[in-house]
Amino acid sequence: MMHPETMSGGGQYNEHSTAQLSAAERAFPLLRQAAAEAPPTSDGLLTLADYGCSEGRNSLAPMRAAIEEIRRAHPVETPINVVHTDLPQNDFSSLFATVADDPGTYAGPDVFTGAVGQSFYQHILPPRSVSLGWSSIALHWLSAAPGPIDGIWYTDGTQAQRDQWSRQAGDDWARFLDARGLELLPGARLIIVVGSADASGNSGAESVMTTLRRIADDMAEAGRLPKTSLTPIPAWYRTAAEWQAPFPHSDFTLDHFDEVVLGDPIAEQNADGDRAQYARDVAEAIRVSFGPSLLAAIPREDRAAVEHELFTERLTAAIGEDAAVGFDWKLAIMVLTKTAAA
Ligand SMILES: C[S@@+](CC[C@H](N)C(=O)[O-])C[C@H]1O[C@@H](n2cnc3c(N)ncnc32)[C@H](O)[C@@H]1O
Repeated sequence: MMHPETMSGGGQYNEHSTAQLSAAERAFPLLRQAAAEAPPTSDGLLTLADYGCSEGRNSLAPMRAAIEEIRRAHPVETPINVVHTDLPQNDFSSLFATVADDPGTYAGPDVFTGAVGQSFYQHILPPRSVSLGWSSIALHWLSAAPGPIDGIWYTDGTQAQRDQWSRQAGDDWARFLDARGLELLPGARLIIVVGSADASGNSGAESVMTTLRRIADDMAEAGRLPKTSLTPIPAWYRTAAEWQAPFPHSDFTLDHFDEVVLGDPIAEQNADGDRAQYARDVAEAIRVSFGPSLLAAIPREDRAAVEHELFTERLTAAIGEDAAVGFDWKLAIMVLTKTAAA
């Protein structure tokens, strides 16, 4: 079983993830509303859990928004505990430096920061301790690739392979909900914003991923890459039906489910239509998010050179030359409320 690698560290994910933030912003109004009504523990503490934080820059704005609302609804000195969670190999040093030093930080009086380096597919926070949960652009990562796939992206697989990956996606989603069901206080909300798929299962990244695969094949052909050295990315973009499948659920009600066509936020940020800049930005966004997983089996000493040739040179050039390659992302935005009974 191949477990996902985390995003590129050393500040690289922070630097190349403005598209993810613009996606997450779609859920801020729901986050604010949930924060205003977030239940404290019996001793008056409010814990905000951020599931899948990476290096933290994209967590600052949502946590700031939630804290603002909590401050409006509760006495000013109410202690607020922000807990960022990610996989153990995540660059938590960058996260803590970001929270400490970034001008957009949420840090302030009576706000405390902590972190957990464990998979969110496990129970990782004390029972009934979380007043508000947030997870942005993280739940498309599977706990592990359940088996091989003919290619690098989940849509490359045969029907049988896709069925197996889809079952894993269903099991993971169920495990995520069960774990959060233990952690959230009754009445607490969990806001999830995540990449999703259309009814046929496509995420909207397929043209970029097909280009990447073709380039990898070209590199293998030219002897620049051993044929089977790329590791399929253990991600699955669920359809609306897959997201909604566990409901009704014993721990949560699904109070809001919205599918949003996000389109291509990188193209939107590149309003003057500079194709070369667009190509660089797309290649970097793919490199920092998926590069570590894709290159996990490449010997460490060769990795930087392969990464540079694959993404910085070849993928950038290919996207620059072909105006048909780009994103058409979709999002699922959900609000779940922890039921009182369980
Ligand atoms: C694309 S980043 C999103 C970061 C940030 N929330 C944002 O909105 O930009 C996805 C994050 O989810 C994390 N992740 C993937 N699988 C995970 C798991 N099983 N448990 C915890 N975090 C996980 C990755 O390591 C990565 O940091």
